[in-house]
Amino acid sequence: MQLKETLEKIISKYCSIQVFGLGYVGFPLSIRLAKSGFKVIGIDTDLTKIERLQKESLSDTQLNLKSDFLKSLKNGNFVPSNIPVKTDLPRIGIICVPTPIPDGNNDSEIHVISAVKKFLDTSKRGDILILESSVRGGTTEELIKIIKSRGYTIGKDFGICFCPERIDPLNQKWKLENIPRVIYASDDLTYQIAQTIYEHVNNSTLFRASSPKVAEIVKSFENAFRLVNISLVNELAVLCDKLQINVNEVIDAAATKPFGFMQFKSGAGVGGHCIPKDPTFLLDLARQKEMNFSSIQNSLAINSMLTRYIVDSIESTLHEMKLSKSVLVCGLAYKSDMDDMRDSPGFKISNELCKRGFVTASYDTFYKHELLEKYLIENHIKKIDFKIISELNENSIKGYDCICLVQHHSKMKDTIEEIYKKSLIPLIYDCQSKLNYISKSKTLLKGFGLVQKNREYILSRSIQI
Ligand SMILES: NC(=O)c1ccc[n+]([C@@H]2O[C@H](COP(=O)([O-])OP(=O)(O)OC[C@H]3O[C@@H](n4cnc5c(N)ncnc54)[C@H](O)[C@@H]3O)[C@@H](O)[C@H]2O)c1
Repeated sequence: MQLKETLEKIISKYCSIQVFGLGYVGFPLSIRLAKSGFKVIGIDTDLTKIERLQKESLSDTQLNLKSDFLKSLKNGNFVPSNIPVKTDLPRIGIICVPTPIPDGNNDSEIHVISAVKKFLDTSKRGDILILESSVRGGTTEELIKIIKSRGYTIGKDFGICFCPERIDPLNQKWKLENIPRVIYASDDLTYQIAQTIYEHVNNSTLFRASSPKVAEIVKSFENAFRLVNISLVNELAVLCDKLQINVNEVIDAAATKPFGFMQFKSGAGVGGHCIPKDPTFLLDLARQKEMNFSSIQNSLAINSMLTRYIVDSIESTLHEMKLSKSVLVCGLAYKSDMDDMRDSPGFKISNELCKRGFVTASYDTFYKHELLEKYLIENHIKKIDFKIISELNENSIKGYDCICLVQHHSKMKDTIEEIYKKSLIPLIYDCQSKLNYISKSKTLLKGFGLVQKNREYILSRSIQI
C-alpha cells in the first residue's frame, strides 16, 4: 500500500489507530478518537492497567471520560491490549509513552524507541507513525533512520509526524479539543493524513513546522518558559519573605499591567513529567554546541534550593515557637486535584524533613498504597522513611506541631480550614500562600512570602495547642 491509498481509506475511517501508552496523554486521546468513530487499540505494557480497563474501571482523574469510555468499549471502537496488533487495514501508530529524565543507565527515549520498534515489527507499507511524547532534539531524525532501515521509503510508503502533546489535565478552558498543536510531517501526504486524524481531535488546528528539530525545540522551549517563570516567581517569594511583604500582593498588582506580563504563582517548586524534564533537552543541545543555557540552569538550581529553604523556615519557626520537630506534609501530588506524584516537591520536602530528624508524616487524598513502588521510581528514591497517614482529621494530626501544605486539593480544603479555624495545630506552613487568613485562629499561618498580621502576638504567647 502507498500513502495515497492510506489517505483515501483514512478519510472514511477505514483504518486501525494503535495508541502506545494509556496514561495522562494516551488515554484521553484514544477515547476521543474512538468516540469519533475510529477503531482504536490502546496498548500499554502495564498489564494491571489493561486488566483494569478491561474490567471497566477508571482512576479518579479519568472519571470525566467514563461515559465515552464505556460506550467505546461496548461498541468495540476502543480495545485495550498489551501488544500491538497486525492488520491489513492502514495503521496509524501514535506514541504517547513516558520520556523520563535520563539517569546513568537509561536515556529518556528508552520507552519511545521500544514502542516504535514494536510498532514497526507489526507494520507494513502504507502505515504512519505519529510521535506525541516530548523528546530530546534529534529523536525524530533517529526514528526516521530506524524506519528506513526496515526498508520503507518515507513519503512514499511510510510517513512520520512529531506532534507533541500540550494537554493540561483538568484545565476546563483549554482541552484536548481546542488546544492548537505544532506538527512536523515528513511529507505532504503524511501531513494530509495527520490533518484527517486531528480533525477529530482538535479540529485540525495544526501549525506545521519546517523540520523535526524546530517542532522538538518548540516543545522543550514551552516548558522551559514555564520553568523559568515559576523559578522567577519563587525566588521573588523568597525575597518577599526576607522583606516581610506579601508575594501575592506584588504578583496581583503586577498583573494589572495589561501587556507584557503573565501571572505565575509561587509554590514549593516544579514537579510532574514535563516542566522539570523538557528544558533539560535544551540544555543537552546547548552542551553539544559548547554553550551554557544559563537561564535554564539557574532556574533548575532555584527549584532544587526551595526544598531546603522551606524546611529551614519550618525548622526555625518551630524553634522560635519552642515546639517539637514534628511535621505533617499535606499534598504529595505535584498538581492540585491530580493523582500525579511524579517528581513531586511533596516527596522532596518529606524526605528532607526525615533527613533532619523531624518526626514526619505525609498525607495526600490521592495516595494509593498499592502504587508505592511506582511512586518510588517516579521520585527517584529507594524507600520512604516517613509515615503515610490515610486520613486527615482531628485525631490523625495529633502529635504534630506543624502542617506543611505543599499542594492544595479541593478534597482537603474543608478539613484544612477546619483545623485552622479551630486552632488544632500550632503552625500551618502554606507553601502556595493560598490559605485565607483567619484572624481569630491561634494557629500561626506562615509561608514564604506570606506575612501574618498577628504573627508577633502568636509567637509571644509560644502557644502549645
Ligand atoms: N502528563 C502531561 O500532562 C503531559 C503533557 C504534555 C506532554 N506529555 C508527554 O507525553 C508523554 C506521555 O506522558 P504521560 O503523562 O501520558 O505518561 P504516563 O506515565 O501517564 O503514561 C504513559 C504510559 O505508557 C506506558 N508505557 C511505557 N512504555 C510503553 C511501551 N513501550 N509501550 C506501550 N506502553 C508503554 C506506561 O505503562 C504508562 O501507562 C511524555 O513524553 C510526557 O512528557 C505529558
